[in-house]
Amino acid sequence: MRSMQSDYMHWAKFKPPVRFALTASEVPHFRMDTLPIDIADLDLDGASHPRYPPLRDAIARRYAVRPDQVVAADGTSMANFLAMAALIEPGDEVLIERPTYEPLLGAASFLGGEITRFDRRPEDGFGIDIDRVAAALTDRTRLIAITNLHNPSSAITDENDLRALAELAGASNARILVDEVYLDSAVPPGRSAAHLGPEFVCTNSLTKVYGLSGLRCGWILADPDLAERMWRLNDLFGVNQAHQAERLACLAFELLDRILGDTPAMLDRNRALFNAFVAGRTDVESMPAAQGIVAFPRWARGDTDRLAAHLREHYDTAVVPGRWFEMPDHFRVGLGVPTDVLEQGLNRIGAALDDLR
Ligand SMILES: Cc1ncc(COP(=O)(O)O)c(C=O)c1O
Repeated sequence: MRSMQSDYMHWAKFKPPVRFALTASEVPHFRMDTLPIDIADLDLDGASHPRYPPLRDAIARRYAVRPDQVVAADGTSMANFLAMAALIEPGDEVLIERPTYEPLLGAASFLGGEITRFDRRPEDGFGIDIDRVAAALTDRTRLIAITNLHNPSSAITDENDLRALAELAGASNARILVDEVYLDSAVPPGRSAAHLGPEFVCTNSLTKVYGLSGLRCGWILADPDLAERMWRLNDLFGVNQAHQAERLACLAFELLDRILGDTPAMLDRNRALFNAFVAGRTDVESMPAAQGIVAFPRWARGDTDRLAAHLREHYDTAVVPGRWFEMPDHFRVGLGVPTDVLEQGLNRIGAALDDLR
């Protein structure tokens, strides 16, 4: 049956709040009122500006592509949907990594795609095994979808593996959707796969790494013909972006390094804390957190819904149970919180794990 909703997104939006929320996958929100904004800059006259060139140019400059490769969208969410809508017809096979970000599955299903999967295994550091992808491809596969960095594990797919994927996709007349919403939190920051050839369709936004989720500034990088198809398709969906948000996004791009500020250093500290936490336990396994904003450890004692419920009830703390990523013995820990919050959150996770021993 076709998906008509994302249960994961609904859960993520409406779960009861807790003090130590390690469920988020973004860095703390950036206060835009600390930037030099004059209300007159927001152009409040009510007009919209189709394909607003200054924003398209700003995205193109930042990611070193041509403006005609850039399509604007409401967040990476709409970018993924729009990309898939432009690329697949009902009945096409869409080959999606497992585990993955659940709305990718929902969007492909809603659009009538036939979903097939390939596994990214913890024993391979959640890397992409090209042979597994090759084995899962058929002549009906029109799209391969991955996240890079990988949500939930933060594993990075390097350019060699991306090129190998492109070769496979090219031979099958398929494209590759790469959700790059975490890529700017790679160490060092990764280059978009959009540079590797026209097989790649890459999505991203200012949400996760820059703490600007409220702007809903997302985009797709694709070859110009495909980009044009997406702009035209978006006339059926959102038509234009909210213009005031476009103006704010342009300002954000001018000041992006200032907005990033201390975030890379905070994430480094937090990854080190997480790694020390894992090293101190015999019941939790994880590849070392080396980049990204989330980690995805395995709990030796099974179903992490039990752990998540115990954390909520007794420790005012939350993690994402692995069932949302089709791996119930894992749980996702958000590392994008202030370091003292992470430290206390990890202590609480440790205490909860001891209780459930
Ligand atoms: C892989 C992935 N893509 C997209 C999104 C949504 O991003 P945005 O807020 O830009 O729509 C998320 C949020 O969790 C995500 O993890």
